[in-house]
Amino acid sequence: MKFLILNGPNLNMLGRRDRQIYGALTLEEINREIAAAFPGDTFDFYQSNHEGDLIDKIHDLYAPAGVCDGLVINPGAYAHYSYAIHDALEACPVPAIEVHLSNIYEREEFRRVSVTAPACLTVISGQGMKGYLLAVRQLKERTRS
Ligand code: DQA
Repeated sequence: MKFLILNGPNLNMLGRRDRQIYGALTLEEINREIAAAFPGDTFDFYQSNHEGDLIDKIHDLYAPAGVCDGLVINPGAYAHYSYAIHDALEACPVPAIEVHLSNIYEREEFRRVSVTAPACLTVISGQGMKGYLLAVRQLKERTRS
């Protein structure tokens, strides 16, 4: 199966950024762990600090069908206010799961709402890098059944 792992703004700074909150792993290390955990699957890893780039990447999943089996997205702070990413996800035929390394529901008020989440199957928040693995596993099970 093929999955797109999409990471939004500031996630390229993992390992250097608020390690107490986000952990010590870099994004490259997280991506390597994901690929190693699912050796039979193919991954496209993409990170951008720009909203439009993330939307373009989601649009690439619209057609042709079968190009990708699932999307794992950590929209970063865009989760809290990007209706444009919500709309791109909502129209996307590929099932998506939203992941946050930290528990957004136990942090500042502005992080407690995700406007992108309603366009995803579910949200996994506060599980650190394991959240990405859980999301892929869930998408694989869903696609299989
Ligand atoms: C985050 C949570 C967001 O609130 C924050 O803006 C991020 C990272 C997370 O993975 O915990 O950039 O998405």
